[in-house]
Amino acid sequence: MDLKNQTFISFTLLGLSEKPSLRLPLFSFYVGAYIICILGNVLILTLITTQSPLHTPMYFLLGNLSFVDICLTSITVPRALSSLLTKDLSISFLSCFTQLFLFHMVGNMDSFLLAVMALDRYAAVCQPLRYTTIMRRRTCITLLASSWLIVSLHSTLFTTMTSSLSYCDWSIHHYFCDVPAMLQLSCTDTSAQQMVVFIEGSLIVMGPMMFILGSYVLIIRAVLKLRTSKGRRRTFSTCSSHLTVVILFYSSIIFMYFRPSSLYSAAYDRVISVVYSIITPMLNPFIYSLRNKEVKSAVKKVIKRGQKHQKWMEEIKEEKEY
Ligand SMILES: *[C@@H]1O[C@H](CO)[C@@H](O)[C@H](O)[C@H]1NC(C)=O
Repeated sequence: MDLKNQTFISFTLLGLSEKPSLRLPLFSFYVGAYIICILGNVLILTLITTQSPLHTPMYFLLGNLSFVDICLTSITVPRALSSLLTKDLSISFLSCFTQLFLFHMVGNMDSFLLAVMALDRYAAVCQPLRYTTIMRRRTCITLLASSWLIVSLHSTLFTTMTSSLSYCDWSIHHYFCDVPAMLQLSCTDTSAQQMVVFIEGSLIVMGPMMFILGSYVLIIRAVLKLRTSKGRRRTFSTCSSHLTVVILFYSSIIFMYFRPSSLYSAAYDRVISVVYSIITPMLNPFIYSLRNKEVKSAVKKVIKRGQKHQKWMEEIKEEKEY
């Protein structure tokens, strides 16, 4: 089929309902996870922007992560939900590749942000005296802006590459449009594309990952030098939540994108992609913040203020009644 005509055809997202008996459980799962994810991340964003003790580089970065997580789940989940609800599984060529573009841009931004956060933890643990000069606001903004630029270029490459293939099969065995699932559908030889996905994809994933690993080698070395185990634990506790998120995120990404295509299995892929497209963004606010003293005290303060306000309203009401 010629490439121009192709753009008028719709794909079908089969990953949503190959087994009709699974539709309701799937739907409930997506709804639940999506609501928790949005509520958790909005809570973090609100706390970070309104509470002045949280106006530090670490929390600004965490706020950025929450924003990116909200975007990441909103790119895939609402679309999947509406398809499950209406039983209309088709997705137009244009929406499919828009989704692919946004998902790869925002998903990789997640990993670049984790790298900037690793720099922040390195500076806090290994260079405490120079922390404020390393993590200046200008530096943070420059780092974040260049990350956005890199991930959009990367995503443009992946999108042009997959959208210019000629397709013969239009049934995507996945719940959103993603590169491995699309490459399976083309009727032309995709070995060149697979090569590019592997090489360029490795660079864009391994870059931040190596940076994070390097930071943690230095952090752990510094922590081990501390004399008391209490000191060690306290110093490392600020890093452990970051490390948990990093491990969860990268293990699912690596499994998904870096294995020979002979190991491709649509069923496994769906499970794995749910981990990095929904579960990690959902867990981030909990892993990070609810274990964290400063965030906890900010929450308490907001609740206390709310109670005071309520009491005050009740007093006004009582006065009126007299
Ligand atoms: C994202 O990070 C930048 C740089 O630190 C900060 O100025 C901005 O407020 C952050 N955004 C959010 C939503 O926290």
